[in-house]
Amino acid sequence: MVMAYSASIDQREKLSALSQRKGKQLISALTAYDYAVARILDEAGIDIILVGDSLGMMVFGHEDTTQVTMEMMVHHVKACRKGIHNALLVADLPYKSYETTESATTNAKLLVQAGADAVKLEGGKAVLKQTKAILHAGIAVIGHIGMLPQQVREEGGYKKKGKSSMEAQSLLSDAKELEASGITALVIESIVEGLGEEITSTIDIPTIGIGAGNDCDGQILVVNDLLGSYPWFCPGFAKPKVNLASQTSIAVKAFIEDLNKS
Ligand code: KIV
Repeated sequence: MVMAYSASIDQREKLSALSQRKGKQLISALTAYDYAVARILDEAGIDIILVGDSLGMMVFGHEDTTQVTMEMMVHHVKACRKGIHNALLVADLPYKSYETTESATTNAKLLVQAGADAVKLEGGKAVLKQTKAILHAGIAVIGHIGMLPQQVREEGGYKKKGKSSMEAQSLLSDAKELEASGITALVIESIVEGLGEEITSTIDIPTIGIGAGNDCDGQILVVNDLLGSYPWFCPGFAKPKVNLASQTSIAVKAFIEDLNKS
């Protein structure tokens, strides 16, 4: 049985602190999928840790996020929870886990029971009913508009959004409707130059960009793209600060060499 949910004082404080950051201090957000990385990010002072469904690629080696299940998400949210004391832990609702208001609410509750402070789901007007149902159950929601990775198969690839004025207007109205529903913040992914600024100045909740320019209220990255630990693909907008893949390889080779010397 899925238990009813009620946000703790600590969670409410974190959510309200996040809302108040708009226009004052930029919000930092990274993904994590396990205890050690989550703890390192938390201790380094990150604001939001997203247990993203990008774990489909980063952890499981899938081509995209469409094979991620609730079982995988719950497992990784639990793994991260113990390492996080200060950041807001947001968990992605995976592909097809929120097709109805009932499944959206049930699955959001399961993520909260696993340790999430808030859930994120992809889409604008198309998921407004589900968003409202989750909020009605007392669970905080982060929206996600622009390029939607869960739609990659339907759309035949990852495509930048907002190129036509109709598409840009539709994104703007998605942002307004999601804001009016009561979400805490809005992730905006891969949109054309200038639209991030327009959405950010139109709505009063924080926007968190990824490939959406520098004008959002914060930025989010897949942690592997920051650390250079997924060398097979890194999006152009991500600027890795270290190269963990090559450092790991050097360490492994040194270990093998030491063994052969002894
Ligand atoms: O799953 C994910 O990594 C995301 C991005 C916004 C970082 O949703």
